[in-house]
Amino acid sequence: MSAFAIAFDVGTLEQALALDERLGPGPEVAKVGLQLFASAGPAAVRALKERGRRVFLDLKLHDIPNTVRGAAAAAGALGADLITVHATGGEEMVRAAVEGAASAGQGTRVVAVTILTSLDPASLPPGFARPFDLEATVAALLELSERAGALGIVCSAADLTGLRARRHGRPFFSVTPGIRPGGAPAHDQKRVATVAEAVALGADLLVLGRAITAAADPRAALAAARAERDAALASLQR
Ligand code: C5P
Repeated sequence: MSAFAIAFDVGTLEQALALDERLGPGPEVAKVGLQLFASAGPAAVRALKERGRRVFLDLKLHDIPNTVRGAAAAAGALGADLITVHATGGEEMVRAAVEGAASAGQGTRVVAVTILTSLDPASLPPGFARPFDLEATVAALLELSERAGALGIVCSAADLTGLRARRHGRPFFSVTPGIRPGGAPAHDQKRVATVAEAVALGADLLVLGRAITAAADPRAALAAARAERDAALASLQR
């Protein structure tokens, strides 16, 4: 599918609306993350929905199941199309998110973050096994997320090859942050991929953040990313 979600990682509602304006119309999903939600709250989701965007509310919930269920229900009632939880919160917690989101009756889906793309085995906090088997862990968290009823997972594009091999053709839905069109700077991300690489690896929803939003001309940067994606899709069909 290879759709784009643009990370609206800005500090105010005004900046979010200005970014939406600068991007121009398009099918891209608006990802509202912690920064924008902490500053502008539900108004940011409502305003972007009113402007015709589908909204991915990326709050990465990680709490006890009861609290996550309530938060997911509230996010669903707000009209979020997609929300995130941490798969490491456990199967019961992910299931509570799925149930809470569904209770709002608006079709809100849940995706579960496996291992953050800003972490690699060398920078993992204490509590993770050493040596750390990233591929096996991400695969186990995918299975957990599916058992709990999640739509899919958030992972690095680089994780997709190993996952696919382990799944023996069973499809799964993947959201991949850490995307750097044409090799733009990695910033604080450790596990990055270009748009073309993520498309070739079968990523479903590619998250584009600073590579677009910090560009001098976000609309042109998005157009270039779309072109990179379309060329990669075309070469897959050849
Ligand atoms: O600017 P950049 O492209 O690095 O932004 C990536 C976006 O994806 C940020 O909004 C970040 O919060 C989000 N994200 C991530 N890694 C995850 C899940 C979400 O970077 N595992």
